[in-house]
Amino acid sequence: MHIRILGSAAGGGFPQWNCNCRNCAGVRNASLRAQPRTQSSIALSDNGVDWILCNASPDIRVQLASFPPLQPARQLRDSALAGVILLDSQIDHCTGLLSLREGCPHQVWCTEMVHQDLCSGFPLFNMLSHWNGGLAWQPIHLDGRTFSVPACPDLLLRAIVLRSSAPPYSPHRGNPHPGDNIGLFVEDRRSGASLFYAPGLGQVDQALLEWMGRADCLLVDGTLWRDDEMRQCGVGDKLGSEMGHLPQSGPGGMLQVLEAFPRARKVLIHINNTNPILDEDSAEHAQLLRRGIEVAHDGMDLHL
Ligand code: MLT
Ligand code: MN
Ligand code: ZN
Repeated sequence: MHIRILGSAAGGGFPQWNCNCRNCAGVRNASLRAQPRTQSSIALSDNGVDWILCNASPDIRVQLASFPPLQPARQLRDSALAGVILLDSQIDHCTGLLSLREGCPHQVWCTEMVHQDLCSGFPLFNMLSHWNGGLAWQPIHLDGRTFSVPACPDLLLRAIVLRSSAPPYSPHRGNPHPGDNIGLFVEDRRSGASLFYAPGLGQVDQALLEWMGRADCLLVDGTLWRDDEMRQCGVGDKLGSEMGHLPQSGPGGMLQVLEAFPRARKVLIHINNTNPILDEDSAEHAQLLRRGIEVAHDGMDLHL
């Protein structure tokens, strides 16, 4: 399977348009060794021709332009996007659908909870129904069954229920439901290789650890280094734990969780612009390297 990292930053991107934190200012004036990053999205393929978009970022236009296999090549109006999978209903993961309206109808796989949010608090399904059939909902079930996107039949997909929070505009914000947020376990049925992808992962439990233990590659939440990082940087008062993101450092943090998987390739994604790991000269970045953990960047390719 081919995994293309289209966007590796969390909501806001890096640098964030209105942010003057150390990282954002530093990447803007080139005083920091760091790469700009667009907002969270990846594409998956089993043949290099047909692609599944996992999350639709507000930065999708520049992401499509950056990757020739996703550009029109076969007919007057054309796309290699064979389907869209949404892992939650957050702005940074869904807004890109608005920019894909010219290519409707799109097949969109998501859970019932995400579909409800996108028919109410953030009514993308309703809005886009006015464009040539809009979005065709393909339900993702939470009972462990596999599903596939017809154009990529060799990729077996499975939702892994995660504990996290629904977005502020969700009718059940503050009242979490299974399916508000999922991880994706993807297996290539030819090679047997597997990926666990979870850009928003707030807590780990035994069932999740078992799935992570089966994966050859863990592409997981790298939002924040510290739970109180936004406060420390003076950019906001939300904690990572309130937003459904497990920080990397500290007891029970992502670094400790990943220690349990020495065999797997480990890559952090959905990096917030305040995170010190974005500075390639930071002590935190060096610590990741020592632990064999990579930081996803836009344009990164993973082949499993
Ligand atoms: C999140 O991942 O917690 C959200 O995308 C934050 C946001 O709204 O930008
Ligand atoms: Mn996000
Ligand atoms: Zn910033």
